Amino acid sequence: MTSTSQNGRPAAAPAEETLRVRVWRGQADGAFEDFAVPRRASQTVLDVVTEIQRAQDPTLSYRFACRVGMCGSCAMVVNGRPRWTCRTRVSEAVDGDILVLEPLRNLPIVKDLTVDMVPFFEKWRDAHGAFEPGEAPPSDFAPVRPDSPKRKAADAGVECINCGVCYSACDVVAWNKDYLGPAALNRAWTLVNDERDRGNAARLAAVSGDVGCHSCHSHMSCTEFCPKDLAPTYAIAGLKRATAPSPLGPLLALLVKS
Ligand code: SF4
Ligand code: SF4
Ligand code: FES
Repeated sequence: MTSTSQNGRPAAAPAEETLRVRVWRGQADGAFEDFAVPRRASQTVLDVVTEIQRAQDPTLSYRFACRVGMCGSCAMVVNGRPRWTCRTRVSEAVDGDILVLEPLRNLPIVKDLTVDMVPFFEKWRDAHGAFEPGEAPPSDFAPVRPDSPKRKAADAGVECINCGVCYSACDVVAWNKDYLGPAALNRAWTLVNDERDRGNAARLAAVSGDVGCHSCHSHMSCTEFCPKDLAPTYAIAGLKRATAPSPLGPLLALLVKS
């Protein structure tokens, strides 16, 4: 049974149940700073960060909004794994009594646990990740059957909330900062399968270049870590199929000429 203090908040665990928290401070050339935080029942990692900021060091920078797994803004690297901190209980992530908190990888650090998401969203733009209605969109609703293969393919990736967890987990982004990355490519594949979209020629050209889908090594890290259980790896495989040069291409070219 959970004990509570007089103000109704979960009571602090006994003194020996203290969490040792190593928190990244500063920017890329920063260092870890150690804190001690009481363990509490049902405590999330975001609770720990908030407790440090409110009770020990108000200069600690971090980001969150919804606290319920809807906005994706609280993502950090927790004991080596990128994840949403509001949906991660300390008990799931702790190593003994140690919690190591770092900002998301593969993005510039603004300060402490806060990263600059601009490069992430620029990739989204570069992959033509916005719906393109065409010059004269039809006024009627598009008839899209829920069980059509394209609708199912679009459905599989449409719940992305842009948290950046997959981007932080991707080794190819770490090697090549220009690689569009799993979230932007997943979004592109969702739109490729949207019957109403008219932007696929430019989109497929954008995602088939040097920094696009063919650079993916299918490591599956994005799919392993996505908190929404999406599978960017499979979306990228779809883009690879859609943009792969056909082995019949030269033959077809000859037939067209003759
Ligand atoms: S694909 Fe998953 S991990 Fe990647 S940004 Fe979208 S929700 Fe986050
Ligand atoms: S499957 Fe591709 S996009 Fe996903 S983490 Fe691996 S290399 Fe990156
Ligand atoms: S604060 Fe919104 S997902 Fe964690």
